Amino acid sequence: MSVLIRGGTIVNEDGSSRADIRVRGGIIGEVASYIAPAAGERIIDAGGCLVMPGGIDPHTHLDYPFMATRTADDFFSGTSAALAGGTTAILDFIFPENGQPLRDACVEWHRRARPSVADYGFHIAVTRWDDQTESELRDLVDREGITSFKHFMAYKGGTMVGDDVLIKSFALAAKLGVLCLVHAENGDLVHYLQQKFVAEGKLGPEFHPLSRPPEVEGEAVNRAICIAEAVGARLYVVHNSCIPAIEALRRGQMRGVDVTGEALACHLAISDEVYRDCDWVFAAAHVMSPPFRPPEHQEALWAALASGVIKTTGTDHAGFRAEDRLLGRSKFTDIPNGTGSIEDRLHVLWHLGVNSGRLTPEQFVRVTSSAAARAFGLYPKKGLLAEGGDADIIIWDPAGERTIRAADQHQRTDFNLFEGMRVRGINRMTISRGDVVFEEGELSAREGRGEYLPRSANPRAA
Ligand code: URP
Ligand code: ZN
Ligand code: ZN
Repeated sequence: MSVLIRGGTIVNEDGSSRADIRVRGGIIGEVASYIAPAAGERIIDAGGCLVMPGGIDPHTHLDYPFMATRTADDFFSGTSAALAGGTTAILDFIFPENGQPLRDACVEWHRRARPSVADYGFHIAVTRWDDQTESELRDLVDREGITSFKHFMAYKGGTMVGDDVLIKSFALAAKLGVLCLVHAENGDLVHYLQQKFVAEGKLGPEFHPLSRPPEVEGEAVNRAICIAEAVGARLYVVHNSCIPAIEALRRGQMRGVDVTGEALACHLAISDEVYRDCDWVFAAAHVMSPPFRPPEHQEALWAALASGVIKTTGTDHAGFRAEDRLLGRSKFTDIPNGTGSIEDRLHVLWHLGVNSGRLTPEQFVRVTSSAAARAFGLYPKKGLLAEGGDADIIIWDPAGERTIRAADQHQRTDFNLFEGMRVRGINRMTISRGDVVFEEGELSAREGRGEYLPRSANPRAA
């Protein structure tokens, strides 16, 4: 069915204008200052609203087995929550099990993702390097369009890899025109500090951030940048949380390294005081890595986002339920790491970013959608409202208000990081490839309607 969105203000990253949009066959067919309605088409009145590209969340973990449990959201609930919050595409991570061929892991992730209601693509986590790894990675790039390799510099004894693997993988990525991603924390240093606290009987969640101080992150970001620089790889640092990480990014960029990074909505909004709450369950619900930081780091993240040192935002959506956190009741090192905000990213970014004057609406579009589309090879199909692109559109009411509450969310966690936050600026409607999938609080997306997003290597600079 053809849809005409009338009377709104279209916001792209490079400007805003009053215009109508016609959507046909899932694609944006026409954008003009006035479009006359055609017989039989649905007309959506966007008067007083902003019409923006759907959000792209480049960092999610759905249906992910981690730290002796599994994330609360699967691909159906996670992508449903995404659509409700205005995010129309996600990029999730494939994790091969010990010794599992990468293709088998990829097949398994396709199986898990089948119920998705939003479009999705994959990064591949490089968690080992053996004689097969290079050919397996080449195969995923060529046949699956998986053009981003993820590396964990932390989680010693788990997914962590050493510099030897980083060097080999980055060098291959450079050859293939693939983007390298890193979770940048010095895993040996984290391990040392964790063991020290545990030996001293310091076992509560308040020691989680102390075992991962900002230096742990700054060192790893700098090391990853130096390795990328030496082998000519393009680098994207996920979930930057602190000033030393931003400083390392800025230094790398100033000397011409092709490096950028991501900030998470939760790191922009929440400070480390949550870990000192006397309610163990509440403090444990905030255990994620890197941890929340003192407030000066949040201000630095906002400034880095506005200036472009950090180009994208994501969620690292990996929510766990209270019962899962109890795995770490006797020591913080066993609390599953991860938090969820796939549904709230855009609302938090708008409320704290645009309403406060830290971001313009155009910058909001850039950091929630366009920059990720460019960095990950989805642009201009996604991340831009223009003729010929996918009709992934949100209709945003800048004057609307709501209160974020776990009781109202589509995410399956029993907790919300932003509980009680009153936000101004709300998503009235989500359109995904031309389908109205969320409207005035109601989701109507058919299970499995999400499409897989193969991506091209050598994407444009973010
Ligand atoms: O604590 C986190 N961030 N959990 C999810 C896995 C990761 O490190 O991205
Ligand atoms: Zn991570
Ligand atoms: Zn993650």
